[in-house]
Amino acid sequence: MNVLVTAGPTREPIDPVRFLSNRSSGKMGYELASAFAGDGHKVLLVSGPTALDVPEGVDYLPVETAAGMHEAVGHHIGRMDIAVFAAAVADYTTAAPATRKLKKSADTLRLELVKTPDILGSARQTFGFAGTLVGFAAETENLEANARDKLTRKGCDLIIANDVSQPGIGFDSNHNEVLLVYPGHARLLPRTSKHELAHQLVQAVLELHLAKR
Ligand code: C5P
Repeated sequence: MNVLVTAGPTREPIDPVRFLSNRSSGKMGYELASAFAGDGHKVLLVSGPTALDVPEGVDYLPVETAAGMHEAVGHHIGRMDIAVFAAAVADYTTAAPATRKLKKSADTLRLELVKTPDILGSARQTFGFAGTLVGFAAETENLEANARDKLTRKGCDLIIANDVSQPGIGFDSNHNEVLLVYPGHARLLPRTSKHELAHQLVQAVLELHLAKR
């Protein structure tokens, strides 16, 4: 199977030395890429900047910004059977990054932000992807309802939902607990290491892919 995985945060430039980003470590996406590769699949990992080593046997395409990730995904998704979007893409980027380093002069500084492209939302609608589409949802409330809404809006087959208000799991942690939200039902995968969880998720995604065909 050809599998695309997006992972990590994006960096949205403010000026040549500063950026807007988030706390994503990229661990969940890298563990998934590694688990798919270990299971014999051909994996392309499109990743924002992380401190992680590229997993063995995985093709790696580094990107910086949401726009860069959107372009990379658009270029490669056409030949994929499965696409899993684990990246924590910045929702907003600067309207016009400064070409020179901003000086510390005024007491306040206003940045104008504009929405980034919705990469997961583009998969079906813009890129015409017909394979198995899996997204993540990080929520602090109404986990299943919000994930189900995302599932429908973005044409996903599965949303892997995280409750990010729970301490010790999710963002920047080695552990996670997720709710698998399918069109007709939901299933909890209890708290475990991201490494172990990645193997369970790969099995769930492959089962889904085979059932769909
Ligand atoms: O809407 P929200 O950011 O919660 O959606 C999360 C899902 O959408 C994740 O799978 C994430 O990788 C993906 N996403 C994306 N492009 C964006 C924002 C989110 O692919 N601009």
